[in-house]
Amino acid sequence: MTSPLKLALTDADPATVDADAVIIGTVQAPGGVALAPGAEAIDSAFGGGLLELLKLLGATGRSDEVIKAPTGGSLAAPVVVATGLGRLDDEVSAELTRRASGAATRSLCGIRRAVSTLSAMDLGAAAEGAALGAYQFTRYKSDYGDRPVGSVDLVVASMTDGAVKAELERAVAVAEAVTATRDLVNTPPNDLYPASFADRAVSLGAELGLAVEVLDEKELREGGFGGVLAVGGGSARPPRLVRMRYRPAGSRARVCLVGKGVTFDTGGVSIKSAKDMHEMTSDMAGAAAVLSATALVARLGLPIEVIATVPMVENMLSGTAYRPGDVLTMYGGRTVEVLNTDAEGRLIMADALVRAGEDEPDYLIDVATLTGAALVALGPRTTAVMGTPELRERVVERSNACGESGWAMPLPDELRSDLDSRLADIANVAGHRWGGMLLGGLFLREFVPDGVPWAHLDIAGPAWNRDSPWGYTPKGGTGACVRTLCALLTDIAATS
Ligand code: BES
Ligand code: MN
Ligand code: ZN
Repeated sequence: MTSPLKLALTDADPATVDADAVIIGTVQAPGGVALAPGAEAIDSAFGGGLLELLKLLGATGRSDEVIKAPTGGSLAAPVVVATGLGRLDDEVSAELTRRASGAATRSLCGIRRAVSTLSAMDLGAAAEGAALGAYQFTRYKSDYGDRPVGSVDLVVASMTDGAVKAELERAVAVAEAVTATRDLVNTPPNDLYPASFADRAVSLGAELGLAVEVLDEKELREGGFGGVLAVGGGSARPPRLVRMRYRPAGSRARVCLVGKGVTFDTGGVSIKSAKDMHEMTSDMAGAAAVLSATALVARLGLPIEVIATVPMVENMLSGTAYRPGDVLTMYGGRTVEVLNTDAEGRLIMADALVRAGEDEPDYLIDVATLTGAALVALGPRTTAVMGTPELRERVVERSNACGESGWAMPLPDELRSDLDSRLADIANVAGHRWGGMLLGGLFLREFVPDGVPWAHLDIAGPAWNRDSPWGYTPKGGTGACVRTLCALLTDIAATS
């Protein structure tokens, strides 16, 4: 569940703080392992011998290396935890601090309180990493072993400095948005389905005083949301369309977000193979990210308006399921020939993009676990970013600056005709498998109003970690792109 970790500041000497563990950093320096900034006081308490001790224990300073050593009375705390930052060039990268901080708290289960000196490098990053690394999703475990560390005190020069306090508060808000997203993604599809997902959006909005509108299947029919209705039609759990709005006084720009909310994707009649199908519990990660990001912008009080439009469906097979061969009339009137019911995300996104376009956004950003081809192209950790060039580049730049990795991808015009349909305005897939991610983007582009700056983030890779945990990233739902959206919206607020 949401990380229960309490983060606080301390200006005490970390060697004398009554804690269960002290966290320090190590780096891979040219001459071998070295201590990171912040470890000085701990090293002096060891009589300058801390590095030698860590070397004896095999320390290299590599990232994801966590070494614990007993302090034997040198410190008030019984254990020192040395977490590797990796190779640093001239400056300490915030993301290396974030990852090392996460790796440390991930390794600290069953203790009450730790003190971290990683704040000497970057307070916000150390705080975010600590909170994200301490995350565990234990909602469905009868016996879940040791709880994560209860609190981490971050060492700072002054606890009363307003800027320092603000930096910690922002980190806590960001980390809570990311962990709330992970909770939604990790919740299994029998408990998280369109109606229950919409209920959670309503509760999230209520906490922050945001207006949330939910269209049920009847209202979707009246509104003509042909994509959402077709994809959601095979499930006993009917679809929803959620609209969450944050509108501050003196708003400087209007940003519309759209997120793919497929609570489970069987593929429908074009059924997926059984292997790994269970991972399609994460097919609503885009929806979770945009809802969390909208709530986060409200919590941070950014002076921009944000409207999230989130279609929620379960893509199932049954006697009422849509078929390959069907022609759908989408919201706004365009027609789509369905050639593969497993390319369902773009159908619900198309309705939502047209609806979002009616809000006349200054920027339109969509986030979706849209294509397996994105995983093939960029692997499991990198978000593919498509769209209008200027906004696309801005998203890529902000994502890398906040420690998530985004990479620009093209939308080649010459591929568009591969989606030409015998019957309808467009087909939902091409007759071949080349450039599948780009075709997904080109399909969506048809539903984006002309002239609106638009970015499409395909998070099929980074939304879900099927491998071992690393840095602050657990197995399962990762909360990908919440930080990218936050960084982008902060930038838009600052420059509008
Ligand atoms: N939800 C999947 C994409 C996906 C695959 C996300 C693997 C995460 C991991 C999407 O709905 C899908 O099935 N896409 C198809 C599109 C194809 C039929 C054109 C795909 O990628 O195979
Ligand atoms: Mn699919
Ligand atoms: Zn899908």
